[in-house]
Amino acid sequence: MNSEKLKKDFSVFQEKPELTYLDNAATTQTPERVIERVNRFYREENANIGRSLHELGYRATEAYENSRKKVADFIGGRKDEIVFTRNATESINLVASSLELDGKILVPETAHHSEQLPWRRKAEEEGLEFEFIPADENGIDLEAAEKMFDEDTALVSVSHVSNVYGNDNPVEELAELAHKNDAYIMVDGAQSVPRIPTDVKELDVDFLVFSGHKMLGPTGIGVLYARKELLEEMEPYQTGGGMIRTVKRDETQWEESPQKFEAGTPNIAGTVGLAEAIEYLENVGLENIQEHEKELAEQMIQGLAKIDGVKVLSPESACLVSFTMKEAHPHDISEILNQEDVAIRAGHHCAQPLMEKLGVSATARASPYLYNTEEDVEKFLEAIRKVREVFR
Ligand SMILES: Cc1ncc(COP(=O)(O)O)c(C=O)c1O
Repeated sequence: MNSEKLKKDFSVFQEKPELTYLDNAATTQTPERVIERVNRFYREENANIGRSLHELGYRATEAYENSRKKVADFIGGRKDEIVFTRNATESINLVASSLELDGKILVPETAHHSEQLPWRRKAEEEGLEFEFIPADENGIDLEAAEKMFDEDTALVSVSHVSNVYGNDNPVEELAELAHKNDAYIMVDGAQSVPRIPTDVKELDVDFLVFSGHKMLGPTGIGVLYARKELLEEMEPYQTGGGMIRTVKRDETQWEESPQKFEAGTPNIAGTVGLAEAIEYLENVGLENIQEHEKELAEQMIQGLAKIDGVKVLSPESACLVSFTMKEAHPHDISEILNQEDVAIRAGHHCAQPLMEKLGVSATARASPYLYNTEEDVEKFLEAIRKVREVFR
């Protein structure tokens, strides 16, 4: 994979050649062809969908439904199993609001707030049990998880890749455990769908959620995959235009799913941008991206290990690197790196219960993607050495 060449597809790196962008786990940059596709939608196809009986209305509807097909094919689902949302967070909230559960909910203690809070609130509001599955930098403790499953377990929600450590979680094994116990499994694919080839039928998961902006797509577009039978059973999350078949003064009939879950005018331009981003990713090849990222992460880990006072929290095989430095707050690290034109993330990564367990308020996190190069990593390591000099 030629990341130097791929970098040229991103205008931001032409505008800012000095930029080393290593905050991809938060949001990735957007290739010119995705920007161009969104622009073309507004120039040539812009209208509302599913209701306007004119040429532009037909074209917008076609573009939107083609995007749904593209997303479905990308993750091995069916077109009518794809609901467009604003982001992964909204997709999880949708399921937590609409899915009827009667039993315990399990979530790893490493979970992103978006992945745990909707379930915690549901548990509180509906008097359900909620438990954390023990987990660390190597992923969830499968043995412990196995013991936590019983006939009362209703659902397990797990991120395929942790946004704090960058490790993979054993989704297939968990899916098997869940289904053996008649429980549902939801997979948070916010960090995995952008890099791991994902097939919902092979993984045998009930729900999968992800966000466009972490995989070269626009912000404000997210995806919920749900098995068709479950979408049929679930009640709408929001009501309004676009999701009804008929409304009488005293009676309403919902549309079929997935439209039943897409109230109001959706982010049509966002969906066509996402479909274009998927095409770009497919051309590069997810396996190539994953391998490339892991090489860069390994280079970072090896480099950081040589800098005194630095503690790496991510495992060797991670796709990103979380770390701390003695005497330097992660915000200071990030700020000094910013002065060197290196962008990383510092904070609690929306995983405060995990930070609490680790006894830290924050970590620094460098997350590469397909356009990052070995030179980027060298520049990052050089900047970290400068931080060390400041805080020595
Ligand atoms: C693992 C994980 N889950 C969920 C989310 C939430 O994604 P979004 O903010 O796009 O809804 C993130 C974002 O950082 C994440 O890393």
